[in-house]
Amino acid sequence: SQIDPHLFVIFGATGDLTKRKLIPALYHLMQDEDVARRCVVLGAARSDWTDERFREAARTALREQGYAEETVDAWCTRNLHYQCLGPEGNDYEGLRERVEQLERHRNLTGNRVFYFSLPPSIYTQAIEGLGAVGLNTSSGWSRVVVEKPFGHDLDSAQRLNERVHQHFDEDQVYRIDHYLGKETVQNLMAFRFGNALFESMWNREHIDRVEITVAEPLGVGGRAGYYDQSGHVRDMVQNHLTQLLSLVAMEPPASMDADAIRDEKVKVLNAVQQPDPRADVALGQYRAGTMGGEPVPGYRDEPDVPADSDTETFAAMRLNVANWRWQGVPFFLRTGKRLPRKLTQIAVRFQSAPVSLFQADGGPCVPRDADCEAAPNELLITLQPDEGFDLRFEVKAPGNSDDGSMPLETQQLSFSYQDAFGPVPDAYETLLRDIIVGDPTLFVRADEVEASWQLYTPLLETDLPVHSYEAGTWGPDAVDRLLPTWTSTGRTRS
Ligand code: BG6
Repeated sequence: SQIDPHLFVIFGATGDLTKRKLIPALYHLMQDEDVARRCVVLGAARSDWTDERFREAARTALREQGYAEETVDAWCTRNLHYQCLGPEGNDYEGLRERVEQLERHRNLTGNRVFYFSLPPSIYTQAIEGLGAVGLNTSSGWSRVVVEKPFGHDLDSAQRLNERVHQHFDEDQVYRIDHYLGKETVQNLMAFRFGNALFESMWNREHIDRVEITVAEPLGVGGRAGYYDQSGHVRDMVQNHLTQLLSLVAMEPPASMDADAIRDEKVKVLNAVQQPDPRADVALGQYRAGTMGGEPVPGYRDEPDVPADSDTETFAAMRLNVANWRWQGVPFFLRTGKRLPRKLTQIAVRFQSAPVSLFQADGGPCVPRDADCEAAPNELLITLQPDEGFDLRFEVKAPGNSDDGSMPLETQQLSFSYQDAFGPVPDAYETLLRDIIVGDPTLFVRADEVEASWQLYTPLLETDLPVHSYEAGTWGPDAVDRLLPTWTSTGRTRS
C-alpha cells in the first residue's frame, strides 16, 4: 500500500527498543527514496539530547547492525530529529510546537504516529499530555502505538483503555504484540485457512492435544527492574503465548478484514476457561546452572533482583477451550527463561489410529492398552529458529522384525521457510509498515487485551508456589504433573 507522508514520533527515543528495533526498521522501510523523502522521525525523551546526538546514537546502532556507513549517515542527517520533553518529561507544549514546525518545514500534511516506547507506568501521562495540547487530532491522521504490557491485570488494562479512549478513538490505537509481526505467526493463518487438508482435521475428533512452547536460553539480562515486577506470566503468557493460542484455535473469519479476524480471536479467548491455579499451573524460577559449558547465575543473583524474589521465570499450564471445536482437547503452554535453547513451537498431536495392527507380539492392539505403542501423527509448527513445518508419520522400515511383525519407524515431511524464501523479515518492520499504512489486523484490540487478562486473573491473584529449576533444563519437576512428555522436546528435562 501507499505510504502517506507523515511524522513518526518516538517517545522513549533514548531507550533500548528504539536503538535495537525501531530505528533499524524505519531505516529499512525508508530505503525507498520516495518514502524517505516523505517521512520524518522525531525522537522525544527526557534526556537533554540534540538532533545531532540522537543521529549519532542511531548511526552507531545501524552500523552495529552492519549497514553501510554512507547511506546510514545521509539518512540520519536528513530524517532524524530530537525534542527534549524536559526533566519531568511533560513539556508537551514544546513538543507540539516542534511537531508543527517540522511539518511546515518538511511540507507534511499532519499525518502523525506517536510510538510509546515507554515504561508502562507513564503511558497514561503521555496519553493525557498528547490530549491536553491537542496532538490527538490533526489535519491528517494520528495514530498512537502502545507497547506491551498493556496493563498489569484486568482492572488496570480496563482503566488504561478508558483513558486512551478519552483522547483517541479505538481505530487510532495500535497495541503492539511483536509476535504478531513475525512472518511465521502470520503464516499460521495461511496454513490453516489456505489448506483444506488440515482444517478438516483441526478439531476434537482428530486432535489429541496442542502444545505451545516458547523457550529462551537468555536470562533476565539488564531488565530486572521491569521483569521482577511483572514475572513471566505477564511478560510472555498473557500476550505472546495467548496470541499463538488464539491463532491456532480460532474459527475461520468471514473475511481477511481486520475486525473479522479480531472478532474471531476474541470469541475463542472468551471460550477458554480460566485455569485452576493449583491444578493446571506450574511456575518456576531458575537457579544457577550451566549453559553451553559456562556457569550462569541464578535469577536471584542477577543485577537488581532482590535476593528473596519469588518472581516466576517459567510458567506452564493446561487450558481448555470450551467450544464445539475444542472441548476436551488440552492446550498446554510452556515458556521460560534459561531453558536449554531458543525454541518457539506449536506441536499438534493427532489421535492415534484406533487400532494398531503392528505390535511386536503380533497385535492388533488398541492404543489405550498400556503396552500398545501406536505412535500418533504429529505436526510441529516451528516459529523460531529454523521456521517451518514437520509432519511426522509412521513408515515401514526395510526388512522384517525377527518375530515376523512389520517394523515401523517415525519419519517426517519437512518444509523450511528459509530454504523456500530466504531470510525471514523482521517483525518490527512489518508492524511499523502496517501502522503507517493504517492496517490494524496485526494489533491487539481493546476487547482482546481485556479478554486475555480476564483469563489469567485467578492465576495472577493466587499466591502459588514457585518451584526452583536449574538453568539449562526444561523447567521444574512440577511440570511433569501437567504433562510428563512434551512432543517438542521429548522429556521435560534435559
Ligand atoms: C518480549 C519479552 O516481549 O519478548 C522478553 O518482554 C522476551 O522477555 C521477548 O525475551 C522474546 O521475543 P522473541 O522475539 O525473541 O521470541
